[in-house]
Amino acid sequence: MKQDRKDTLILPFEKGLIDPPTGSEKWLFLNAASLDADAGFKQFLMCEQGFRPEFVALEKAGFGAVPLIESTETFDGAFILTSRVRAVNEQNIQRAASQVKAGGVILVCGEKATGIAAIRKWVGSRVEITDSLSKHHAVCFWFKNDVETFAADAQEGHANGMFSASGPDKGSELLTRHFDNRIKGKVADFGAGWGYLSQALLEASERIDSLDLYEAEWLALEAAKRELNQDGPVPIGFHWIDIQSEFRKKPFEWIVMNPPFHHGLHSSRAPDAQLGRTFIQTAASSLVKGGKLLMVANRNLPYEETLTSAFRKVVKLADDGGYKVIEATK
Ligand SMILES: C[S@@+](CC[C@H](N)C(=O)[O-])C[C@H]1O[C@@H](n2cnc3c(N)ncnc32)[C@H](O)[C@@H]1O
Repeated sequence: MKQDRKDTLILPFEKGLIDPPTGSEKWLFLNAASLDADAGFKQFLMCEQGFRPEFVALEKAGFGAVPLIESTETFDGAFILTSRVRAVNEQNIQRAASQVKAGGVILVCGEKATGIAAIRKWVGSRVEITDSLSKHHAVCFWFKNDVETFAADAQEGHANGMFSASGPDKGSELLTRHFDNRIKGKVADFGAGWGYLSQALLEASERIDSLDLYEAEWLALEAAKRELNQDGPVPIGFHWIDIQSEFRKKPFEWIVMNPPFHHGLHSSRAPDAQLGRTFIQTAASSLVKGGKLLMVANRNLPYEETLTSAFRKVVKLADDGGYKVIEATK
């Protein structure tokens, strides 16, 4: 199997550079991923993972995982896997430092391609780094916690770097211009993020009977719960799922989406058009006869073949500013 940053993460233990957890110790693991079972860490780790596909993988491998650690208990040490989002990395280090006992080890690991050097510099400007090593295109470094060091970096709320966190995406905006009263019945929003498209749907049509949001990022879905009026006339369902593997069909009349082409914010995997194709096929499998998919995508993403083989009719409604809006009829 291809080795990656999570294999690098356990190397300092295998090499005897850090004493592994023992006895009744509890270590925190932020942006957790399932570690090699032979390494024997399972019973010591409290894993946090908000991205559903990774969360499901952790559970399947027998790790104790939650989407968000809200307890303030003290841990004996911490592991952190870094992501593409610097603000999340910094906040995870600060969070770990606030919950690990003084003198406990905090071990940070990430791929070279995702800015681990900058994070190491950020940490190194605040605390003495004990040691580091590099393997499988990843670097890990560790330091002994003194609890106070990162206190000044604490922030309200959770940095999440979710899609379009700083305002609506241009493609999504273009898509909403095609929302109107013809959208009716049971409606779904695939990869709903913080609910921008769902909110626009509720404003554009009075004929929606129910609205279901499907989203893999826990914090994004939590933001959508705050964004949308749950006391309004339209019942709204919020589903934290991996659309690729956990979706259960419902007879939707309309599905809207701006499908992802990244495997989650915290992954270093390359962009992948297959994700969008799976979203399209899943939408097609769920829509009723005559039901419609209304989607936007970067104009260069190759979805046409998938669309024409899964739908009876495919029409391009707009091609503007690098985005295409497509309406497909089942
Ligand atoms: C391009 S964003 C669109 C977000 C929102 N609909 C908007 O227009 O602003 C795609 C969304 O799909 C989510 N996503 C990625 N992989 C997913 C999966 N396997 N299952 C469900 N949602 C996923 C991402 O977290 C992200 O919020």
